[in-house]
Amino acid sequence: MLALDPYIAADARSHIISQSFFKLAAPQAKSRAGRTPKMRPVPLRRMEAWGTVEPRSPTGQDGASRPPAPSAPGALTQRRTRPVPDPSPDARRSAPAVARNREPIAAQLLQLLPATGLVLEIASGTGEHAVYFARKMPHITWQPSDPSPEARASIAAWTAAEGLANVRAPLALDAAAADWPVGKVDAVVCVNMIHISPWEATEGLMRGAGARLPPDGVLFAYGAYLQDGVPTAPSNVAFDADLKRQDPRFGLRHLHDVAACAAKNGLALARVVEMPSNNLSLVFRKVMTVSPGTGAVP
Ligand SMILES: C[S@@+](CC[C@H](N)C(=O)[O-])C[C@H]1O[C@@H](n2cnc3c(N)ncnc32)[C@H](O)[C@@H]1O
Repeated sequence: MLALDPYIAADARSHIISQSFFKLAAPQAKSRAGRTPKMRPVPLRRMEAWGTVEPRSPTGQDGASRPPAPSAPGALTQRRTRPVPDPSPDARRSAPAVARNREPIAAQLLQLLPATGLVLEIASGTGEHAVYFARKMPHITWQPSDPSPEARASIAAWTAAEGLANVRAPLALDAAAADWPVGKVDAVVCVNMIHISPWEATEGLMRGAGARLPPDGVLFAYGAYLQDGVPTAPSNVAFDADLKRQDPRFGLRHLHDVAACAAKNGLALARVVEMPSNNLSLVFRKVMTVSPGTGAVP
């Protein structure tokens, strides 16, 4: 059971990582007595922040899309006294950081992505970015993906709830896999995965994007990175330690390592954009095709 309001929890802590959230808050989670709850729970499942937890915006932006508080006076009493059967639990999850970072990321994507075409999103998570970006870019077909079944259920539920025709059903895609279940794409977007996954996922991201993008096609990779000659913000130092405690294979990557890995796959680091809360947007462009085993072909 989630006793804390994740929004309050996220803003109160420096960084929160909860990859196991889906299991903790799964709609069919059993009660302590071992029975599946029949009462309608919180209208919209919420998840603690993945990635860097950005400070609450002074404009209140991060609260704009909040669902109603589950503890609103009256609501709980009503649920206790008049149980409501819940035939279709809502699979939508919510990550508070998305409401804070989606607009700055969208501003970058609007400049970078082609006006039309197929955009593959790697590690879509809750799916909130997918629906937000797809709504802003209606002529693009958005292809979300995630290896987590709970994430894919959330993505599909958000897409249905928003009624968006330009978002495809989410793919089960592990970036580290040798083969991806998708062919050529016009651009690739990846938000907050590189530091919250083993390095093999980044290698796979570069390999998969390099093989699928057209000449000059964009791979956009948002997240927190370490940079040579740039002091790491204390919040990112703490974040890195948190990540490594969770899984020693996780952690903030050096920008030069990510760029070198991309270059091996024909992707050149074209631009680095400073983003709020010590994050960066990395913009890679496909400059050459790499044939496995035979090297790069300009
Ligand atoms: C921090 S969440 C970010 C989700 C979303 N992009 C966002 O910013 O809210 C990290 C996501 O990476 C996904 N992920 C982890 N390892 C992955 C891999 N090897 N390939 C693809 N996605 C992966 C997780 O399932 C999770 O949805």
